[in-house]
Amino acid sequence: MTTFSKSDFGPGFLWGVATAAYQIEGAVGEDGRSPSIWDTFSHTPGKIKTGENGDVACDFYHRYHDDIALIREMNMQVHRFSLAWPRILPGGTGPVNPKGLDFYHRVIDRTLELGLEPWVTLYHWDLPQVLEDQGGWTNRDVVGWFGAYVEVCARAFGDKVKHWMVLNEPTIFTALGYMQGLHAPGRKGFANFLPAVHHAAMAQAKGGRILRAHVKDAQIGTTFSASYVEPAGPTWLSRAAAASYDAVVNRLFLEPALGLGYPWKAAPFLLALKRYIRLGDMEKLAFDFDFIGLQTYFRQLVRFDPLALGTFAREIPHAERGGELTEMGWEVWPENIYLLLKQFSGYKGVKRILITENGAAFPDTPQGERVHDPKRIQFIQDHLAQVLRAKREGVPVEGYFYWSLLDNFEWAEGYRPRFGLVYVDYPTQKRILKDSGRWFGEFLAN
Ligand code: FCB
Repeated sequence: MTTFSKSDFGPGFLWGVATAAYQIEGAVGEDGRSPSIWDTFSHTPGKIKTGENGDVACDFYHRYHDDIALIREMNMQVHRFSLAWPRILPGGTGPVNPKGLDFYHRVIDRTLELGLEPWVTLYHWDLPQVLEDQGGWTNRDVVGWFGAYVEVCARAFGDKVKHWMVLNEPTIFTALGYMQGLHAPGRKGFANFLPAVHHAAMAQAKGGRILRAHVKDAQIGTTFSASYVEPAGPTWLSRAAAASYDAVVNRLFLEPALGLGYPWKAAPFLLALKRYIRLGDMEKLAFDFDFIGLQTYFRQLVRFDPLALGTFAREIPHAERGGELTEMGWEVWPENIYLLLKQFSGYKGVKRILITENGAAFPDTPQGERVHDPKRIQFIQDHLAQVLRAKREGVPVEGYFYWSLLDNFEWAEGYRPRFGLVYVDYPTQKRILKDSGRWFGEFLAN
């Protein structure tokens, strides 16, 4: 039983689901798509825990027609999805692949036909491999490559798509992909991470400017991964460690976009970014975003650790915190989303916030034609209650998009963690609306 209803969120509040191209589309070799860094990475032995890849995934490429109808069935309004750069520009910068554009026209048309709003993410981590071969995000030229790609998309879809998100979680793709080597392209160290950060931050603002120039009446945003950071202890060192961790986890890409520069006061190691910053860059990092997408799954509890280079902060493992864990091993702690909404709305430049991702993986198993997932329902309700709490306190939060529509390829984890409101039986590609999906449908019905 919830203590709130849909109407408590107000008439303008948007409800939707989010997906990403590589995690659901499959059809990696079809209609002229070139390999992305995730094709290379997932086909490299030892990179994906289960040894799986996105070659087929949910076969959304062929099943989008019925899959999008499931969003409607849940009485939602928003279909957030991403465009695959290697489908649209298989060579990285050109020429345009008409079949790639066609596919997204079909997806967008189907979305609109069902009365849903398409919310498009331009970059959800699938950089064309040809560009990675030239240095990827570490090469300053990527800012121009990305700009060319954004312009193609804006011109192709700008008449139909009015809601755009430039990047998906730049902190995650730079930190996991270029610092820790856990995500594609699997590079490590500050010498990769720092240039990738600066170029992604430049691309973020440039993408916004290009959309503004080419799409009439566009609502332009970008999305940030976020985790409320708390010091594990009361000491000054613990608090300083938490502050520097927070600077990287929550502020690294937001503050430059707002014209505040990089948060190097709290995290002095970021001063090393200066090596990659050229005259005039700092001004170009800012863009007047219409909204920001906040994406969150858990909080971070950190302690001081002199061996943790950079932030001097070490996360307390979720399993040691004593609370409930999801299939990802992430702590369930709903107040996280409230505290982050408060924190992010504290910036003058943040006008509107949408929760563009939030969700949980649990080990769902079908029983006949049903999938009972009470833990996911509870997770959603508890998080929505915290969103509402923030909204009632004046936070301009205007939407909630659940991650994800379908169970899908969860990056380095493979297909094991299931985040979907819809169950996917991978061998047959059969879909089953889980109880959580049914709950959403009822909750949003009136
Ligand atoms: C986010 C990603 C998304 C998905 C969820 C679980 O960080 O943006 O693609 O993997 O986590």
